[in-house]
Amino acid sequence: MIDQNIVQQIIDTADVVDVVSDFVTLKRRGSNWVGLCPFHNDRTPSFYVSRAKQIYKCFSCGAAGSSVSFLMNHEQMSYPDALKYLAAKYHIEVKERELTDEERTAQTERESMLIANEWACQWMEDQLWNTRDGQEIGLSYFRERGFSDATIRKFRLGYSPEDRTALYTAATRQGYNREILFKLGLCKDDQHGGGYDFYRGRVMFPIFNVAGKVIAFGGRTLKKGDHAKYFNSPDSVIYDKSSSTMYGLFQAKRAIAQQGKCFIVEGYADVISMHQAGFENVIASSGTALTDGHIHLLHRFTQNVTELFDGDEAGIRAAMKGIDKLLSHGLKIKVLLLPDGEDPDSYCRKHSSSEVQQYIDDHESDFIQFKTQVLLEGVKNDPIKQSEAITDVVKSIAVIPDAITRSVYAKECSRLFGVSEQMLLREIKKHIDHNKEEAFKQAERDKRRKEAEAAIQEPHDPQQPVVEPATDEALAPKLTSEPGQSPTYREERDVAKLIIKYGMCYLADTEYEDGTRPTTVVEHIYNELTIDYLSFSDPTFASILSIALNELERFYQELPRVEQEANVRNQEDCEREIQNIDLIGKSIDWLENEQNRIRSKYDLRTIEQVNVFRQNFLERLLCSYPDDRVREMSCRLASEPYQLSKIHTQYAHVLTDFERLPILVPTALNNLKLSIVNHRIENIKRQIKETTDYEAAKPLLLEQQKLQVLRLELAKLTGERVINP
Ligand code: CTP
Ligand code: MN
Repeated sequence: MIDQNIVQQIIDTADVVDVVSDFVTLKRRGSNWVGLCPFHNDRTPSFYVSRAKQIYKCFSCGAAGSSVSFLMNHEQMSYPDALKYLAAKYHIEVKERELTDEERTAQTERESMLIANEWACQWMEDQLWNTRDGQEIGLSYFRERGFSDATIRKFRLGYSPEDRTALYTAATRQGYNREILFKLGLCKDDQHGGGYDFYRGRVMFPIFNVAGKVIAFGGRTLKKGDHAKYFNSPDSVIYDKSSSTMYGLFQAKRAIAQQGKCFIVEGYADVISMHQAGFENVIASSGTALTDGHIHLLHRFTQNVTELFDGDEAGIRAAMKGIDKLLSHGLKIKVLLLPDGEDPDSYCRKHSSSEVQQYIDDHESDFIQFKTQVLLEGVKNDPIKQSEAITDVVKSIAVIPDAITRSVYAKECSRLFGVSEQMLLREIKKHIDHNKEEAFKQAERDKRRKEAEAAIQEPHDPQQPVVEPATDEALAPKLTSEPGQSPTYREERDVAKLIIKYGMCYLADTEYEDGTRPTTVVEHIYNELTIDYLSFSDPTFASILSIALNELERFYQELPRVEQEANVRNQEDCEREIQNIDLIGKSIDWLENEQNRIRSKYDLRTIEQVNVFRQNFLERLLCSYPDDRVREMSCRLASEPYQLSKIHTQYAHVLTDFERLPILVPTALNNLKLSIVNHRIENIKRQIKETTDYEAAKPLLLEQQKLQVLRLELAKLTGERVINP
């Protein structure tokens, strides 16, 4: 449990642009920041982050939220973990107590696995640095490879000793569950109630997810002739080889974002050596072919990718394979082959950083040049081979999603092959049509197959959960509390939206029993509902209202301080500006006018600053609230504009929703009341129809009459015409 004051401090300090930037590269656009949505397979930026509102929203898949909900949805952190992450990021101290045994077992499997992996990573580092075998075998191996101590620490490299049960024993003694150790692939079951270690006598490369958590390990053997050079962690709840991460991404992401490009290499050692040589924007696919998952992950950070491979057969083949996949995701690809027999690791060790840079500058070529060069090697005078090469390049261009990019490459290709651009564009078009048709046919086949499977499937065993294929939609965060639960859901939603966005804004001076005082939007809404004995029927909206009411006290405590601070600050600025007025050649009247103008400018500024505080107070709190339904609903509503159309005044000034609160709040309330009354009337009518006994029907008829009068009154206020039968 974290103290509520600290929670508030964390929420106030965290900046959503900052937090999201650790996972997605954002570019400034007007007052917002935009990037590729991490919640679906986004190919053009539809993910907006607002610093002023402290929320993000994807206009394509609808994901929306605050810093806290971003971490919860994207990193699958629990609420307290998200807060702790933010606290650590902003150096806010959170006092935590030790977990009890019960709490430890209650942690989800995912969390337990991450915790155990982190522990194992530390343990292996400790083995490397602080044991004799670790130093003599592991550390000396790394140093011989040219890794500096700083590099070894940065990548948290470790050593796993020869002893069959060293890690197993240490881990179980610490209370780590053996099933978890098995699932992580750190240990194997010995079938006698014990276990033994998997990575014996290997140097260890921990693999981090984008947030820096250890999700897997690669362990390299030090023995010549061992049947597998590397042992890698199995796929698990926390690790999916094909999409969870790419090796080095966590350490590289800042550099990738800053430089706007990234190198892909083949192995762990390549990443590490390039880092050490000063090239930090490097990642590896680690022995597996690039998958859509990898590229999707990468695309969030940059669209410029250079494949950096060995100049040998295998390297060329790997580079060729990657090209079309990367192109089809809209990435801009370059290829850089090293001299035959060299990989990035060996090349970086033999050359200085500036030599490496020079080599990159001289040899980086776009994919067309690369393909052309490879395909035309030694076949310059063979017209058939040449036309095959053209077709190959044309096919690659055809998978690029963006038309402008395609035409740029078509130009390039026309220059290289000396064929007409028009002809190439026609060929490209043919392939695009062909690809589309193929995609369509494939979709049809998939659909028919699914239908056929469904038809022959055995009745579903209710004990077994249905496993849905992971589509983009399924990966998008689920928004709970679907509309349509209560008959007045729509109207309640509009009122709730006003509470979330403007709850603490001043609405009117209201007469209470003990005198008149200024009243906020949420107080007004509460008063209006209780006068008529109404309440929200949707439980989420009801919670939002009651949270807001509970926060009023704290709000009124803080308001005077905020007002005073704004006032003092602006008074000072105001006096300074008045002091600096240039008096030369000015009349007293002019001076007086000028002073008044400046004073009212700063008065207005104070009011605006206080209004910003009022608007943010509830919205921030609700958008980061621990209850899932409250938080998700708040984020969703906060990211929507009020739906009524904008009103233009005769001065062409567009009134903001904030300025229109005196109209919006009563309108929303009346709509809600009208809707409630309408439903009550419907209900009573049904009851009357069902009653056969006139005596029993009498009070119902009376009630109906009363409601109809009420409806008429409400309708007048709302301006809607109602036909009263
Ligand atoms: N790899 C693997 N299993 C193997 C061989 C390779 O998982 N048996 C993966 C590793 O991620 C490795 C990458 O493929 O980093 C590239 O292989 P290689 O070039 O052989 O490995 P390096 O990391 O370069 O190893 P070293 O230079 O230490 O031999
Ligand atoms: Mn190597």
